[in-house]
Amino acid sequence: MSEQTLVLIKPDGVERGLTGEVLRRIEAKGYRIAELTKLTATPAQLAEHYAEHEGKPFFQPLVDFMLSGPIVAAVVEGEGVIAGFRSLCGVSDPTAAAPGTIRGDLGRDWGEKVQKNLVHGSDSPESAEREISIWFG
Ligand code: RTP
Ligand code: MG
Repeated sequence: MSEQTLVLIKPDGVERGLTGEVLRRIEAKGYRIAELTKLTATPAQLAEHYAEHEGKPFFQPLVDFMLSGPIVAAVVEGEGVIAGFRSLCGVSDPTAAAPGTIRGDLGRDWGEKVQKNLVHGSDSPESAEREISIWFG
């Protein structure tokens, strides 16, 4: 089986009507959408998903943001997709993210306690496996 990554379209992406645009970019790159669902996250799922950030100043704003509306979760497949999707995303800060990337083209700073940056992508094979089990059981 080829590599898999967990992609989340965060509440800002769904709210702004960018779900199709994000999925379009994933498919245009040549990756395959293996699983796709729209859901509202639970605090327990987010505590697990963002365990590495517990205790950081942006942790609670991040959880509140992720609970603020529905999200779209996807398992995306393809050789090198973990690094490849991170590259499609651009860096975390949408102001700094390069034009051509999802965050660089579609995101901006809204002056809030947490960066609303449209998408999440797993950062390693270990994270991908862990995160896919959180969102897809
Ligand atoms: P993600 O996990 O969502 O794919 O994003 P990432 O790896 O690029 O960023 P990470 O460092 O894991 O942080 C997770 C999310 O927390 C929010 N954040 N805001 N100082 C801030 O305002 C701040 N720092 C982090 C972002 O939504 C980031 O994606
Ligand atoms: Mg991260």
